[in-house]
Amino acid sequence: MVSGRGLRVGLAAALVLTTLAASHPTDGADAALLQPILAHGPWPMTARADPSNRVDGSAAAVEFGYRMFRESRLSANGYVSCVTCHQLDRAFTDGNARAQALAALDHNTLALANLPLQRRYGWDGASDSLWMASLRPLFDPREFGADAARVAHVVRIGDGLACRYQHSFAAPPATHDDQTVMVNVAKALAAFVATLGTGRTPFDEYRDALTRNDRDAVAAFAPAARRGAAYFVGVGGCAACHSGPNFSDGALHPQAPAQGASGAAAADGAVGSLRWSSSAYNLHGPYNDNPAQTASSEGALVSFGTDAGALVRTPSLRNVAVTAPYMHDGSVATLRSATPHAGAELTTAQVNDIVAFLGSLTDRQGAVRSWPQLAVSPCP
Ligand code: HEC
Ligand code: HEC
Repeated sequence: MVSGRGLRVGLAAALVLTTLAASHPTDGADAALLQPILAHGPWPMTARADPSNRVDGSAAAVEFGYRMFRESRLSANGYVSCVTCHQLDRAFTDGNARAQALAALDHNTLALANLPLQRRYGWDGASDSLWMASLRPLFDPREFGADAARVAHVVRIGDGLACRYQHSFAAPPATHDDQTVMVNVAKALAAFVATLGTGRTPFDEYRDALTRNDRDAVAAFAPAARRGAAYFVGVGGCAACHSGPNFSDGALHPQAPAQGASGAAAADGAVGSLRWSSSAYNLHGPYNDNPAQTASSEGALVSFGTDAGALVRTPSLRNVAVTAPYMHDGSVATLRSATPHAGAELTTAQVNDIVAFLGSLTDRQGAVRSWPQLAVSPCP
């Protein structure tokens, strides 16, 4: 059902687009593309809370998670922290084709942004919660090379960490076993990571101007990006997967045709000897804080079959211009070469316009992020 108001807004906006198409015959934009363009907003979206993580949204846990995010004593050599790869001045990526800490990984570092909008994590979608994805690097021998005992020890002896843990989880870490402390650390990390988001972009201004029938604001959007938006939702077919306000359907698709891609490694969430699809740390396991969540509750639980092998979760395209290189294996250096990856036949001019459009998805901060506002902790 289209509400009366929605319909009026839609009609007014259709008029703007029709007028635009008429005045710029090469725009490639027409009224039929209006709804698909509007479907990429509004922004920012209000993220859902994560019921599997009881400290999601807790100010104390966010602050504890922030500390742990920068804590290098968690790693086997004492030098690796989350910031090693998720760097503040590189949009929480590292600029490398494939990540590297204690050893080289097969995957490109994912930017940490707008993650509560996803429902599975990692390129291969092998983690079914944000806290599981935050736990994974601690175990990986190529990343932290840690285990539950190390993580729990650091929290128990760390200056101010035991206090922050207690404020977050209502008990001192000395009273919890190592496994519990480690999972709780992952939940605090996830509470922190969930606060990292991207802001409004030139595209969002354009999209909202369309809904308001604000011609001046529509005209302020660069013509190339305007055409690119139309190709993106139209002939390019991009919105079939890069859908919705976060430009991701969150679903798994065949990986991009290899450009020297390694592909196979780390498929199905295999990390070292751990297969995460059958891990004790997924939502089927004992650490899920949401007792109501069962395998049958719609959309809540995902399971990973053997077919997860060659599949990749559609990445979000927000701030994509500042997170090169691209694809799960970092095999693509530029947005230009990343654009025609899904088999759409596009002319050079169309690709150029889509690249201009992708550039309009960058917020004001761009590559240089800032830490979120944190609660003032009563801890030393
Ligand atoms: C060695 C570099 C490295 C370190 C250190 C690292 N990460 Fe990552 N991170 C990655 C890579 C690579 C991926 C993609 C993983 C994959 O799909 O195989 C990733 C993915 C993620 C994701 C999933 C993002 C998404 O879009 O689904 C989260 C959450 C995350 N990391 C959090 C953390 C936290 C929290 C820490 C610290 C405990 C951390 N990472 C440490 C490289 C790193
Ligand atoms: C069938 C689903 C699908 C379609 C259609 C699609 N994409 Fe993608 N896109 C993906 C997947 C999956 C990846 C990750 C591929 C990989 O890592 O191997 C991706 C990766 C990308 C990346 C790299 C992002 C990053 O952070 O590494 C860009 C840019 C991109 N797509 C843009 C586009 C554009 C532009 C179009 C339309 C011309 C398009 N995509 C069509 C699913 C799709």
